[in-house]
Amino acid sequence: MKKPLILAFDTSCDDTSVALTSGYKVLANIISSQVELHKEFGGVFPTVAKQAHKENIDPTTKLALKRAGKTLSEVAGVAVTVGPGLAPSLEVGITYASQLAAELGVPLLAINHLEGHLWSSLVERNSPPTKDAISSSITESAAPIIYPVLGVIVSGGHTDFILVKGEGQYERLGFTIDDAAGECLDKVGRMLGLGYPAGAVIEQFAKKGDPARFDFPLPMTQVKDFNVSFSGMKTFSRNLIAKLDAAGSLDKQAIYDFSAGIQMAVFRHILYKLNKILEEYKVTELWLGGGVAANVSLRKLLRTKARIMGLKFRFPYAKNLCSDNAAMIGVVGGQKFLRGEGVQPGEKLDRQPNLHLGEV
Ligand code: KG4
Ligand code: ZN
Repeated sequence: MKKPLILAFDTSCDDTSVALTSGYKVLANIISSQVELHKEFGGVFPTVAKQAHKENIDPTTKLALKRAGKTLSEVAGVAVTVGPGLAPSLEVGITYASQLAAELGVPLLAINHLEGHLWSSLVERNSPPTKDAISSSITESAAPIIYPVLGVIVSGGHTDFILVKGEGQYERLGFTIDDAAGECLDKVGRMLGLGYPAGAVIEQFAKKGDPARFDFPLPMTQVKDFNVSFSGMKTFSRNLIAKLDAAGSLDKQAIYDFSAGIQMAVFRHILYKLNKILEEYKVTELWLGGGVAANVSLRKLLRTKARIMGLKFRFPYAKNLCSDNAAMIGVVGGQKFLRGEGVQPGEKLDRQPNLHLGEV
């Protein structure tokens, strides 16, 4: 059966992304990055992000349609992220998508950004692998899903463990009680002078460093729940970096070793809680999503764990599906379309900046 064509938008943070999807297939996924605009702030500046989204959204939409070889008249539904994210940024996407859905007379699909990250490992390419690919497999993600699944979302804004019982059926088993994993890497990277965002730089530096040189703490081992916390690692890092700096020993090698150490500490903590969950919950698949999923070491750790436990491991096939993108929003939009969960043209969608996924 031919799957409905979905035009999808994500303007949750600092990237303006527009995609066209059909089922799990991505026909186009354009990401207009604002990273250069926000670099000088060391984080995302909401009013700057809003203005850039406003300028970018129309040309990005036109480019996505062109890349996909489709016209607006072929679009069956319009999907848009309603949260979580920055309220001014979300507003731009919601307003644009709502107007377009009304003009086209098609259902408008309100999507949780986290549900997008969760399903990003299922997105399939529609064309041969590009240089951005982190997996050359075309067929792997097409294999039927066997529920229940444990989804791990590791991004700059979130660190969540989600039990997936079926499409739209989620239970959040654990989450971060303070910073997200990517946020911790970004903050420590900033202390080391690595720029923003720092996750990818830390990954490169870590390859030249000794993860055992500094003794990073493993938090929350006495706590029985499945939540994570990264603020202790951040404080530990701040104190140690100040000490090294004062002693004049924060040289290049120390920065490499520090990068290896903090990356390992963050991933060990995630893996520790993941192990606890897998002791208690019987699942058949393990899915990884979010910006930090671009990290090869993290993927290796989870792949090894999945292999030992006999689980199928899925992760996004390209880097641009790990970070914020509209293709993942389109895939969830397609599911909602088929379930008849779109709002009708004219109905208003609200921004939901603090939306969670699978809270019980
Ligand atoms: O999913 P994302 O684009 O935005 C959020 O929704 O938060 O994730 C961005 C995060 C940033 O914290 C960035 O430093 C991190 O993903 N990141 C990485 C890597 N690439 C991006 N962290 C570790 N290793 C990487 N290669
Ligand atoms: Zn995200």
